[in-house]
Amino acid sequence: MKAVIRDATGRVLFLRNPRGELELPGGRPESGESMEEALAREVLEECGLIITDTAYIGSRSCTIVPNKDVLLTFFNCRCDGDAINVSDEHTESQWVSTSASRPNDVPEYYWAVAREVGLGRPGSGNSQGDGRQSEYPLSTGERDRKRLLITAEVYDAGTREFLLPYLPCKAGRALEVGSGHGGISRWIAQMCPDATVVGMDSSAAQVELATHEAELLGVQNVRYMVEDLRKIEEWGGLYEGFDLITCRFTLLHLKDRERIVSGLLNRLSASGILVVEEPSLGSLFSVPENPAFSRANSAIMQYGRMMGLDYDCISEVWRVAASGGCTVRNVRFAQPTVWSRAHKELVLLSFMDFKARLVDASILDLIEANAIEEDLQREYMEEDVISGGLRTIQIALSKNGGGVP
Ligand SMILES: C[S@@+](CC[C@H](N)C(=O)[O-])C[C@H]1O[C@@H](n2cnc3c(N)ncnc32)[C@H](O)[C@@H]1O
Repeated sequence: MKAVIRDATGRVLFLRNPRGELELPGGRPESGESMEEALAREVLEECGLIITDTAYIGSRSCTIVPNKDVLLTFFNCRCDGDAINVSDEHTESQWVSTSASRPNDVPEYYWAVAREVGLGRPGSGNSQGDGRQSEYPLSTGERDRKRLLITAEVYDAGTREFLLPYLPCKAGRALEVGSGHGGISRWIAQMCPDATVVGMDSSAAQVELATHEAELLGVQNVRYMVEDLRKIEEWGGLYEGFDLITCRFTLLHLKDRERIVSGLLNRLSASGILVVEEPSLGSLFSVPENPAFSRANSAIMQYGRMMGLDYDCISEVWRVAASGGCTVRNVRFAQPTVWSRAHKELVLLSFMDFKARLVDASILDLIEANAIEEDLQREYMEEDVISGGLRTIQIALSKNGGGVP
């Protein structure tokens, strides 16, 4: 039995065996085990990952070594964590993009199935439940660490400044939705040591990492939970009566933004404030103009449109805020300058996260996608290129008649 495990970008996990080949993780059942149980045990033993939602794909008789035919069965697996711990049965692990050509060290019988599954729905565990149409397209957990760290360096100062007047006072309650690695909720918890802070994200890998960071830093008044914003109406009483709810760079990945904002307003206390900060992807620019930068961003915008998502969400967020269903307490635009090479890497990392999807959706062909990646690495990183980060709209909202302590 072999497991096809994909990361959020659709790459498939391979392990290098003592013959030097890359193979899919897996093994044989022990007496009394079902195939699914055996596969889960083997994957845990071989790479330390916990798989769920194992679904049979198909089988194939293969000549693994000369004169030895084996019937291989393949299963598509979902996996939330991404911290791989290779056992001594293998020498290394590798996430392989199946939109490129077959690497020489991957046997054809593994490649055929990996490619078929890898070019389908990625398996980040952050699926939005309605098929490819609305998958969260970025990596999560450890693979998202660097991108979110740079995001924090570029955007946190402006976010914190806007949030400052609304931080909960003594014994108050705050919630960050789509909390990622928890930087903003951790900051709120540190600023308000007597408050209770909750961070929530639909990705278990993000929640795991945020929890770990809070523990490492000794921040005790914040905890992280796995919840799905699209199911906000079904959340329990734990998520009610907040003095502050904050949401950044998350609505842009979701449809039904009006319903979600209204659900969040309902979760506020009478005097509570909802702070939303969302961007327009179309606001990105570089000086001097860099063709790879512009092409990368327009391809990502096009992908959003294909998935039914407008990544230019400033107008929609403002329309929802100004529609009369709530009271606007404050609003402003922010747009940081992205200058240092370290910060410019954010564009490169985001493009690399999207790349397999852009090729899969035929928005770019592989040659074009590789050329954009190379140009971003070279030309856009030149010292004389600066760029405008995402312009965001920052809005503080209260329920009508509320918001005043
Ligand atoms: C771009 S990240 C932003 C993280 C953080 N808010 C920040 O500004 O750094 C978006 C986050 O939203 C989460 N997310 C995506 N879809 C979600 C959903 N349906 N419910 C809750 N969180 C979701 C993702 O897992 C990811 O951590």
